[in-house]
Parts: sequence; structure tokens; C-alpha cells
Amino acid sequence: MDTLIFSGNSNPVLAKQIAEGLGQSLGKVEIIRFADSECRVRVEEEVEGKDVFIIQSLSNPVDEHLMELLLLADSVKRGEPRKIIAVLPYHGYARQDRIHRPGECLSAQVVAKLIESVGVDKLITVELHNEAILGFFKIPVVHISGLSVFRPAVEDLSDVVVVTPDAGALKRAQSFLENLDIPLALIEKKRDLDHPHKISSMKVVGDVKDKTAVIVDDVIVTGGTLVNGAYLLKEKGAKQVVALATHADFVGGTDKILKDSPVDKIWVTDTIAVPNEMHFSKLQIFPSASLIASAMRKMVR
Ligand code: R5P
Repeated sequence: MDTLIFSGNSNPVLAKQIAEGLGQSLGKVEIIRFADSECRVRVEEEVEGKDVFIIQSLSNPVDEHLMELLLLADSVKRGEPRKIIAVLPYHGYARQDRIHRPGECLSAQVVAKLIESVGVDKLITVELHNEAILGFFKIPVVHISGLSVFRPAVEDLSDVVVVTPDAGALKRAQSFLENLDIPLALIEKKRDLDHPHKISSMKVVGDVKDKTAVIVDDVIVTGGTLVNGAYLLKEKGAKQVVALATHADFVGGTDKILKDSPVDKIWVTDTIAVPNEMHFSKLQIFPSASLIASAMRKMVR
């Protein structure tokens, strides 16, 4: 392939695995931070006429990683590549996909405009919070379902009911269940919009008694959604709770909350790097590199 692959600093291990899966190594790039935290980027490869991939997860700290992506794209663009393809294993700001209260910004749309403004021609991303944000982009976007990596493991479980942690997640759970003979239940979750991360009420719709309840979500941040859901599911008679989420955008304390919770198993992918000190026995991390590499391969064929 006449391509180059660069990575930002958010998940270099995954980027290296993706590049290796495509038979390449990562392109050389210098990313430095000045004392006041400003970032400067310089690509150290000849990009002219090439298809250039830039891999960067917009994970915590999201603004830092977003800025690196934008500067990387700009430095590549100046070398006159054939195409720039941004690969976002995790698309931050995707949860701010609508205006809930008058006066709020539409952040997911702002991020789409920023990415386009630096000359990105195409985008590949994994497990968006809401597919509707694809409409914020004018450039083509390939959207991959990350949950597919969990399917064989779920098929090995018995007496399963898949549970959506909120009504917004219904479509994701339905597509996960395609061609699987597994029933679906729903948790109705209401958020307290005046207090970020606070849930005001939750209730279960559907039968979970004596079943392995498999909660299917896009992302874990504080762990609040899962843990509250798990308490409720156990209260309603679930014998085991397994939580699946494509992205693990953990913040300080998420590991402890999950470890001490009634969730029996937590399965995530490595679209976001979970630091070693946040690993615990209930957490299993599934690889996502081949899924992403295969979408990239199709794009340059
Ligand atoms: C919410 O709508 C999302 O799909 C996730 O359920 C939520 O963002 C997870 O966040 P936390 O782990 O902080 O509850």
C-alpha cells in the first residue's frame, strides 16, 4: 500500500498493532508539549501523494487528544498527501449529540466541523454513541460496531438476556442481537441534566429472573450506569450480570467502583488504553486492532 500511518499519543499500543496488521510500521512524528501545555506537531516522513492514516482515540483527556489530532492532520496536509483518513477508535464528544436544554452547545457537531476544517478527507470510527452524528459530517464516515468482538463469548453463555442500559441504546442492542436467539430487556434510565453523571431514576422492563443479564453499552466512564443497572438487575433476580462496552474511558476511581460492584464480569475492548494500574480480575480487554485494520485496508484497496 502506498500509505503512511501516524499515531497521536492517546493509544500508541493499539496504533502499532493496527499498523503491524497492515504490514507497516508507524510513521515518524514529533509531538512535543511546551511548558504551558501547548502542543507542537511535526511529521518526519514524506507524505506527498500518499494516503495517510492518522490514528487517535478522543479519550480522556479528550481536548488534549483532539488538539493533537487536529495538529497532526494540519502538518500532514501541508505535505500534500493524496488523502487524509482520520481513524478514531473512540470518538469523544459523541455523547453530546443533541441539545437537551435551551442554551446548550451542540458539541458533536462542533468536533465534526473541526476535523473537517483541517483537511481530513475520510473518517473511520468505532461504536458511536449515536449514529445520528454521522449526519454532522460532510466527509464519508465508516462506522464499525465494536460490540461484534464480544459475540462469540456471549454465545458461550447460557440463559442470557441482553439488557440495554437506557432507551437510547436500544438500536445498538438490537443490531448486536441480529441472528442471535436471545431475548431483550430494557433499563429505563433518567439522568439529572443539572448534575453531570447523576442518574435520577432507573427501572427494568422485561424478564431477567434467573438469567445471565448482559448489559450492552458503548462506553464506561464513571461506571455509574453499569453499577446502578447491576444492582437493579440483581434485585429483579438476575443470577449474573455481565457488562459489555466497546470503550473503557475510565476516570479516577472507575476501576474501584466496578471492582466492588455487583457486576460479575466486565468486557471492554482496547479502543482506549486502560492503564495497567486500573486492571482488575473482573475486567477482560478484547483486542480491536484487526477490526480497525480491516476497515482501513478496504479504504485503500
Ligand atoms: C450514556 O448514554 C452512555 O451510553 C453510557 O451509558 C454512559 O455514558 C456511561 O457513563 P458512566 O459510566 O459515567 O455512567
